[in-house]
Amino acid sequence: MGEPICIRDFEQYAYKTLPRNALDYYRSGAGQQETLANNKRAYSNYRIRPRCLRNVDKRDLSVTIQGERISMPIGISPTAMQKMAHPDGECANAKAAQDMGTIFTLSTISTSSIEEVAKAAPRGIKWFQLYIYKDREVTKQLVWRAERAGFIALVLTVDAPFFGLRLADIRNKFALPPHLSLANFQGNKSTDITKSTDGSSLSAYVNSLFDQTIEWKDIAWLKSITKLPIIVKGVLNPEDAVTAIEAGVAGILVSNHGARQVDGWPASIEALPEIAKAVGGRVEVYVDGGVTDGTDVFKALALGAKMVFMGRPALWGLAHSGEEGVKKVLNIIKREFDNTCAISGCARISDITPSMVVHKSYYAK
Ligand code: FNR
Repeated sequence: MGEPICIRDFEQYAYKTLPRNALDYYRSGAGQQETLANNKRAYSNYRIRPRCLRNVDKRDLSVTIQGERISMPIGISPTAMQKMAHPDGECANAKAAQDMGTIFTLSTISTSSIEEVAKAAPRGIKWFQLYIYKDREVTKQLVWRAERAGFIALVLTVDAPFFGLRLADIRNKFALPPHLSLANFQGNKSTDITKSTDGSSLSAYVNSLFDQTIEWKDIAWLKSITKLPIIVKGVLNPEDAVTAIEAGVAGILVSNHGARQVDGWPASIEALPEIAKAVGGRVEVYVDGGVTDGTDVFKALALGAKMVFMGRPALWGLAHSGEEGVKKVLNIIKREFDNTCAISGCARISDITPSMVVHKSYYAK
């Protein structure tokens, strides 16, 4: 296989090289994986209506997100346990994002700790993804460690009181390889997920430790312990988007968790337009799930997202060549996005307007 030139090439390389346990964990969706296929397929239901003769000689892809200028509207979603893809794991991913001038989001259940990632990418824009644990003391410590380490936003995942039924993980009795650990919880026996006797050890972990009682009022609790802006991740219903704004969040990440929760949820790009409409510009809206091409980024922005995030593509980059691999993935999608913008008549992000992307049914009229 030659040098990868698109994200699909990286994915194929990872499929050939990663151990089964890790590959299945990374690639799987919930149930029969209809939503997983749809996350990607749904993008092709939208068409770009280009504009021409608009001077696209010089282009600027930068955007301001939560007050920070970033180089492009494409960042990294939190994915757990990245050292299964490459020994440098989350640190390599964060360094790549830092070099590319964009946002890296660290998962709570990472194999590199908050402090290790901060040290590896001190200048990078880092967000911390939070799961709320039954033990609120554990949750507080995570938040405070992230603050101290220079993470500048919290991404509260709201779509995972339990984990979805990922059949491959159940079949494989998924467990973290014994040389790895959940690095934010060193020395804590209840976080050992290296052994599985029945089904996925990760699901057992989530079921026993995550707080399944959390409600919207708990955002107030979170706000009482931190000054960091809170972005809720996993909103698919416009009514929840409105409630989130009332609860005082700073941003909404439209996401179906990479199709890993319930098969039958919409593709995230399908859910985006009505959520963007309900939000009406009051807070920033982002989207992740199925973004694998620069044209996807263009479509997501026209349909109401201020930026997109990617989970698996960064894992495939890591599996290929660590930090360099993630940088290549980010450079490839940046180049594709730039190319789409240039040829469709957009020299800057604000030139991408809602009327430039339509559902394919528009042309069937
Ligand atoms: C995830 N996702 C995720 N989300 C989260 O909030 N915390 C987490 O720890 C994880 N872990 C995780 C592991 C793996 C292997 C995957 C694939 C996904 C969901 C993730 O943040 C994001 O929503 C999706 O990955 C986006 O879809 P794509 O880009 O993978 O298609």
